[in-house]
Amino acid sequence: MIVTIDGPAGAGKSSIARTASQRLGFEFLDTGALYRAMTLAAIRAQVDFQNQQEIIQFSKSVQIQWDGDRVLLDGEDVSEQIRTPPVTDAIRFLADLPEIRTRLSEIQRGTAIGRNMVTEGRDQGTEVFTNAECKIFLTASPEERAKRRHQQLSEMGRPLPLEEILKAQNQRDEEDRLRPMGALRPAEDATVIDSDGMTTEEVLEKILCVVRETQNSDSEN
Ligand code: DC
Repeated sequence: MIVTIDGPAGAGKSSIARTASQRLGFEFLDTGALYRAMTLAAIRAQVDFQNQQEIIQFSKSVQIQWDGDRVLLDGEDVSEQIRTPPVTDAIRFLADLPEIRTRLSEIQRGTAIGRNMVTEGRDQGTEVFTNAECKIFLTASPEERAKRRHQQLSEMGRPLPLEEILKAQNQRDEEDRLRPMGALRPAEDATVIDSDGMTTEEVLEKILCVVRETQNSDSEN
């Protein structure tokens, strides 16, 4: 069974999807990590981000794999290195290209074959796993998402002004929504959860409830 969780940056998708997968006894796939790994590879190789053909050509020489909870770039575990601002800032140059999306979508489908999996990203329910049994679109208002990020960064000892976080987040939202392929939107058959005012545990419970309802209705049919 495939459970897709899509939604904008900062909606808490990653940690919620990971915990949901553990509680369900499913595996977890963080598809953003694959986009990040491909971007890290391009940065390391000093690919010219203004040159789309160069990016596409380069991407063909790179091997990306998902290994349980880690992302491997040509066999090297880069799960930590992909979480840096230069990578985050450059992802759009790759994520906007249909050729890159097609390649990474194939890796995602290949990883999920024959598995019970919670997959998390932007286009999981709409493009990659259109036949998924259970689709969730997890969102929250821009202000709430920015506040949560602000608190997270402060706890990590890296506080940033709230306005700065909101501005960068609005820009990423726009990029994600306007992407020609794989744009961020809820699938028609997704359950939309707006997590404003909800605790993480409440969101988790709601997701698990939706998944169990699907499992029950599947076993009745
Ligand atoms: O979920 P994340 O923030 O790690 O994702 C990083 C970027 O990758 C995000 O800005 C958009 C892109 N992405 C995408 O285009 N499609 C996905 N399925 C997952 C991520």
